[in-house]
Amino acid sequence: MRTRRIGPVSVGAIGLGGMQMSIEGRPDEQRSLRTIHAALDAGVTLIDTADAYHLHAGEVGHNERLIAKALATYSGDTGNVLVATKGGHLRPGDGSWIVDGSPAHLREAAEASLKALGVDAIGLYQFHRPDPTVPYEESVGALKELLDAGKIRLAGISNATVEQIDIARRVLGEGNLASVQNQFSPAFRSSEGELRHATGLGIAFLPWGPLGGADRAGRLGSRHAAFAEVASAHGVSPQQVALAWMLAKAPVVIPIPGASRPESILDSVKAVDLSLTTGELSRLDAG
Ligand SMILES: NC(=O)c1ccc[n+]([C@@H]2O[C@H](COP(=O)([O-])OP(=O)(O)OC[C@H]3O[C@@H](n4cnc5c(N)ncnc54)[C@H](OP(=O)(O)O)[C@@H]3O)[C@@H](O)[C@H]2O)c1
Repeated sequence: MRTRRIGPVSVGAIGLGGMQMSIEGRPDEQRSLRTIHAALDAGVTLIDTADAYHLHAGEVGHNERLIAKALATYSGDTGNVLVATKGGHLRPGDGSWIVDGSPAHLREAAEASLKALGVDAIGLYQFHRPDPTVPYEESVGALKELLDAGKIRLAGISNATVEQIDIARRVLGEGNLASVQNQFSPAFRSSEGELRHATGLGIAFLPWGPLGGADRAGRLGSRHAAFAEVASAHGVSPQQVALAWMLAKAPVVIPIPGASRPESILDSVKAVDLSLTTGELSRLDAG
């Protein structure tokens, strides 16, 4: 697969989002393992996860352990796979999502993620979501400590504004903010500002929910006619068109579509080879 960069690390230009394999509606473990193995077979080398991707209380790290198991049971080489996890979000087990961006929590969460992933250092550790009760500098300061201690190799942020991107750059030090992961899809375009900012700085931009999320992904074509029309002209799925459209926005873009079935990720990775004309891209921008 064509590659792009997160800091100094090359990864396949389409990653795999692990969330759907651990939250509400998750498949059985065998299907999840098949899905992750299919992604690896297809050249995916970035897998996105989080400690909070679980369903019940008491199973924090469910998705991290699943990914660790998938890598351990894969028959091929996994040496070039970058697992990107996150801390700072919590699921108490009642279906809600809450935040804790305190440095004490992030230190503890990173230790737990190291264990769940079974590694000495986390490939990419992302601050999941700003905590309005904790100054952003302090939350990102915890990532700086983890970087300096060698517990994480790369640091990233998620759900960040342009201003928070700049705070993170300052706190982490020159060149140490590797990635920004924000929501971006045909239906949700309000991260264009952060995408442009990341592009100007050469920081990887990881669109999350790139197909609109599990509830909407299957209906992308019926919700966005321009994507369906371009898809039909190329004989591909509207989902592939959406991913190719965002890949074309900037060389820093690395979408992380979710999947809970091999077929989904096998279709999504083909977006890397789909070239869209300037006219098509303008239509999709408008549509
Ligand atoms: N940072 C954050 O705050 C944040 C928040 C949400 C998500 N994320 C990350 O972003 C990743 C992706 O987001 P998401 O999973 O919520 O939404 P998504 O990627 O927009 O949609 C995922 C759904 O799309 C379906 N799908 C994938 N490829 C397809 C294709 N080519 N054709 C048709 N359907 C396809 C999958 O179906 P099947 O399940 O049937 O395979 C899956 O349920 C997550 O897994 C997670 O890693 C981060």
